[in-house]
Amino acid sequence: MRIALGSDHGGYELKEYVKKYLDNKGIEYTDYGTNSSESVDYPEFGQKVAEVVKEGKCDRGIVCCGTGIGISISANKVPGIRCALCSDCYSARMSREHNNANVLALGARVIGRDVALEIVDIWLKTEFQGGRHEKRLNKILEIENKYVI
Ligand code: RB5
Repeated sequence: MRIALGSDHGGYELKEYVKKYLDNKGIEYTDYGTNSSESVDYPEFGQKVAEVVKEGKCDRGIVCCGTGIGISISANKVPGIRCALCSDCYSARMSREHNNANVLALGARVIGRDVALEIVDIWLKTEFQGGRHEKRLNKILEIENKYVI
């Protein structure tokens, strides 16, 4: 599995921390920036990660900003992306089992680093349950299709 990583300046340090964790676990990733704490705009990085996941260049994505809100909203604008902003382990597990989230968003100014890594760990190893949840994801697709120009 290859993970796409992205953040703005608010999530930069957490992204670097997540990278160390992925290195230790031997999980492959591509880092789409940002590459410093200099101020940048989160939509660019949310969009980039979402696009490479949509295109299949990466299997899943992890994005970080200060709250996780702006970058998750941005990622979710790309059709086919189900980006879940998680601040706890239960939501991380459910976002995979029920929502088949393909991008995880983390708020670097909201949660501690160790909580973030537990969330990442659970999110990466939890599989989608399918079944009754599949038809609900199809309904999300119907919403997307309704607004495709
Ligand atoms: C940047 O200051 C901050 O607005 C951003 O990281 C994020 O929290 C936006 O949702």
